[in-house]
Amino acid sequence: TDLEHLASSIDDAETAVAFTGAGISAPSGVPTFRGDDGVWDAFDEGQFTYGRFQRDPAGFWADRVDLYRTMFDEQYEPNAAHDVLAEFARDEVLESVLTQNTDGLHAKAATRASSGGETGEAERETDGDEFTTHESILELHGNARRVRCTDCGTRVDSDPIVERAEDGELPPRCECGGIHKPDVVLFGEQLPKTVLQRARSLARESDVFLAIGSSLVVEPAASLPRIAASNGATVGIVNLESTPVDSVADVCLRDDVTTVLPRLQELVDSK
Ligand code: OAD
Repeated sequence: TDLEHLASSIDDAETAVAFTGAGISAPSGVPTFRGDDGVWDAFDEGQFTYGRFQRDPAGFWADRVDLYRTMFDEQYEPNAAHDVLAEFARDEVLESVLTQNTDGLHAKAATRASSGGETGEAERETDGDEFTTHESILELHGNARRVRCTDCGTRVDSDPIVERAEDGELPPRCECGGIHKPDVVLFGEQLPKTVLQRARSLARESDVFLAIGSSLVVEPAASLPRIAASNGATVGIVNLESTPVDSVADVCLRDDVTTVLPRLQELVDSK
């Protein structure tokens, strides 16, 4: 079957890489951006551009509070799909987990996998502009649970800052006087160069590239599987809907991530 083919490719691979999007967190309750009940139906993407943040940080933050409450009102927990990837990374079946998600759930799952089941706050290492929570995880779009001062660069937890914005401090400011910005990549903002380079070189080096729960329509999501495919990787796509990149994939599994990944793990473990 397709799944067996994918499992033996992973087993044979020197470098297997997973790339994830909002669909992997949907079973945890985090809303996706597109598709059924996507947040970009309820919100205008144009309100959350980098240009707007720079021009009108107060207005940006007023709208951001609503988006944050919609997406992050709950404390979400990783699901079975996050757990499988965390265990694969821990056991070096996977080289790396690249994610577009800003919910921090891969990091939470990695902490859980390394501590034998306990959930804890993820350790975070900040290396320049790199969005690294665990060595094997690259958060391409940052982490929405943090804000970063645009002047002094200090990063702090989002919750109290969002509360201050709700109470009318628009825009919320750092102790140094600088304006806080969600520690995520906004529309119209470049990904940090080091992060993008690392993602591209992992795609190039990979023998297996698994895209999981992403519509694969925004950059660099759209091009990473193509880079992997043109360098000879086996490309697998796990997503409920078809994607524009399906044509370059060796295997497309149109099923729920929490169904596919545990099955894949069983097959890989039995090799
Ligand atoms: P999208 O919301 O565009 O796509 C999520 C995909 O997951 C959809 O194609 C769904 O069909 C699929 N999906 C939903 N639930 C699933 C499940 N249980 N199992 C399998 N698939 C499922 O999310 P992304 O591709 O991550 O950027 O979006 C990319 C970027 O666009 C985001 O990082 C965000 C957004 O605008 C920024 O905020 C910068």
